Amino acid sequence: MPTARDIIESVLEHPSVFKSREKLYPEYVPAYLPHREEQLKSLATYFRPLLLEPGTISQRVLLVGSIGTGKSATARRFGSDFKHLARQRGIKLEYVHVNCHRDRTLYFVVQEIARQLHIPIPPRGLSAQEMFQIILKHLENRNIYTIITLDEFDYFIEVAGNDAVYFLVRTYDEHPELTKRISYIFITRGLTSLSRLDSATESYLVRNVIHFKPYTSAELFDILKYRSSEAFYEGTISDDVLNYISELVGVDTGGSGNARLALEILMLAGTEADNEGSPTVTIEHVRRAFAKTNPNLSIMINDVIKHLPLHELLILLAAIRSLRHSSEAYVRIGEVEEEYQRICEEIGEKPRRHTQVYEYVMDLKKRGIIDARVSGKGYRGKSTLIGISIGPLELLEKHITEIIEYKRETE
Ligand SMILES: Nc1ncnc2c1ncn2[C@@H]1O[C@H](COP(=O)(O)OP(=O)(O)OP(=O)(O)O)[C@@H](O)[C@H]1O
Ligand SMILES: [Mg+2]
Repeated sequence: MPTARDIIESVLEHPSVFKSREKLYPEYVPAYLPHREEQLKSLATYFRPLLLEPGTISQRVLLVGSIGTGKSATARRFGSDFKHLARQRGIKLEYVHVNCHRDRTLYFVVQEIARQLHIPIPPRGLSAQEMFQIILKHLENRNIYTIITLDEFDYFIEVAGNDAVYFLVRTYDEHPELTKRISYIFITRGLTSLSRLDSATESYLVRNVIHFKPYTSAELFDILKYRSSEAFYEGTISDDVLNYISELVGVDTGGSGNARLALEILMLAGTEADNEGSPTVTIEHVRRAFAKTNPNLSIMINDVIKHLPLHELLILLAAIRSLRHSSEAYVRIGEVEEEYQRICEEIGEKPRRHTQVYEYVMDLKKRGIIDARVSGKGYRGKSTLIGISIGPLELLEKHITEIIEYKRETE
């Protein structure tokens, strides 16, 4: 019998596809941000005056874009690099990043700014306004400039309200004589939350806007390629696998364009490979990972398939078998039809004609159970390709086989 130590050691020695899994964690800020060059350039342009004539302006820039489009990562990367470039020029600049989802009131935000700037705040109950004065004085005394990012700013607007926003961002309007030591980056998912503010403050915030569009599958591929080269051992993950994830998430291929989701699928797929002791990440690992990020889809599919007509189920079964057999992301509809005819022969059912098969395939697509697309590059001639994005296919196959058996017995 293996000792406890044997068991622990075997797990520790168990090879992993990951070279450095933590490089995929949400808090890790990558050195490169493919397809965010324009946004970085705009930030640099807006903040250039801070280096050329420090103290003359208090800049504010608003980053807007939907979930997982790289807003936080771009702000952090910019802040950290800009700080170092400022220091090289002899300007003491600090970057502060506050998440307003966590710190939603003026008091907590100001306290967090002081904490990140290492400014001691006396423990006796100071107001947010008094703390802010201490921060301003500290910056003045030590000749420090700051860029403060208020991330997930929507929450601050909602909870802290108009006056708090006004207080924070219009300090220098109230005191034009002060050297301008604080500049801001605001981050929101959309512009509608700003309409809660009075129109003067709103227009103050939307003067310099940088947009972040959802990523296309080609853009996600570049991002995943780079991020996986940091996180995975070479040769453990193929371009086909990266491409498949990119297509599941890309905004142009029916996804949301959310890089966080794409990276989560990548990491979960690697974990699936490790759990199975597989030396490489496969398409099937991606299907299982995708199902984990999308539990509702799996439930919905299991629900819908109970009510499908027998031959539609047989076609679905044929698609699953063809996909399992090929180990690729997609198979041609012709292969599925051949498999369908084989299954029909096996169980003594008369196969439906081609046009009916095609209609069933389109219905499965409409219901979101399969993915059907026209072949592009890499395939000879035009053909409809069929894929299934949730796994494990083995379980799905078992489930469908049971439903088919039940239907044939009862109908
Ligand atoms: N261009 C990119 N290159 C490499 N990694 C990226 C890129 N864009 C985003 N990421 C990564 O994707 C994840 C999500 O990005 P980020 O957190 O910046 O999104 P966000 O726009 O702030 O989303 P949310 O609105 O949900 O806060 C992060 O792990 C980030 O490192
Ligand atoms: Mg963010």
